[in-house]
Amino acid sequence: MSDAPVPAAPVRLRPEIAALPAYRQGRPAPAAGYKLSSNENPFDPLPGVVGAVTAAAEFNRYPDATALALREALAARFGRSVDEVHVGAGSVALLSQLILATSGPGDEVVYSWRSFEAYPGLVTVAGATSRMVPNRADAGHDIDALIAAVTDATRMLIVCSPNNPTGTIVTADEFERLMAAVPSDLLVVLDEAYAEFVTDPDAVTGLPLLDRYPNLVVLRTFSKAYGLAGLRVGYALGGASVLDAARSTAIPLSVTGQSVAGALASLEAEEALLERVRHIAVRRDALRAALLAQGWQVPVAQGNFVWLPTGERTAEVAERLFDAGLVTRAFPPEGIRVSIGEEESVDKLLAVLDELVGMPQEGPST
Ligand SMILES: Cc1ncc(COP(=O)(O)O)c(C=O)c1O
Repeated sequence: MSDAPVPAAPVRLRPEIAALPAYRQGRPAPAAGYKLSSNENPFDPLPGVVGAVTAAAEFNRYPDATALALREALAARFGRSVDEVHVGAGSVALLSQLILATSGPGDEVVYSWRSFEAYPGLVTVAGATSRMVPNRADAGHDIDALIAAVTDATRMLIVCSPNNPTGTIVTADEFERLMAAVPSDLLVVLDEAYAEFVTDPDAVTGLPLLDRYPNLVVLRTFSKAYGLAGLRVGYALGGASVLDAARSTAIPLSVTGQSVAGALASLEAEEALLERVRHIAVRRDALRAALLAQGWQVPVAQGNFVWLPTGERTAEVAERLFDAGLVTRAFPPEGIRVSIGEEESVDKLLAVLDELVGMPQEGPST
């Protein structure tokens, strides 16, 4: 990639959009390497999924605009009405819709930082302003600081549990404290993209809170635990009127019939899903324990990834991992997120990191 300045666009752009970093695809894994950079699932799609997707071959027809069949299945599973479920082309699309529905110029969206890297861009695209609240020293959300960051200008607050990229959870008690403290007309979005991997019984689960908090929306995805990242399908659970507002901002017909078919077949394969999720959680816990034993300061890891607080040496460590065939996600100068991938990738990772552990480190704070 060249360091030459980007030439000015030949058309007049919104200055805040022109200032956004252009999207650059991450490096592909080398031939015999492992892609541990996108928190994908190393397992193939669940049984029955490929057949269901390939059978949905009516490409000449538009899909059902409201993904009704999938909403019905999710509504039945979670004990909600069909209008209390909304499906999007990945949960990132739902995040965008909820931001557009609540927040425009002069409005603020509050969230922890560092967190999911899409949040700042989506807020900027909506014309709103991000209010980022630094994580605690243990890399978790600072609930009191999040509450304190809410002002009259705040239209949406995002809680990410487990937090991407640090892996930490928000506890049920912390979340209840936050919900009790913020205005009841402030939209709170609980981003549970990695919920299926959580093993800590103290972690918040949004579903049982929906009836008590009409201002709460819970986001889930088929991309991570269900291994359907390439199909692009996620869902929101919340009050019908809030979800109607999100539906109004959606790009029509972006959830395909194939993604609905894949998601429906995945829901049928619950046993196989739980088995895989259990494998990944066990692999994650073993990896974290091994890294702690090597001397790394790895925060609590409850998603399908671990966070290495490599500080100023982030780029160098990521490069060494890449040379060993391990593509990770570096956030210089803070740390590196490593997804839990194939079993063999873990041994390789531990071997390289064991050689690098002696170097100076910063604390787990991000
Ligand atoms: C915290 C979080 N939320 C949402 C998403 C979006 O996932 P998708 O759009 O694939 O559902 C991701 C993906 O990495 C994520 O890490």
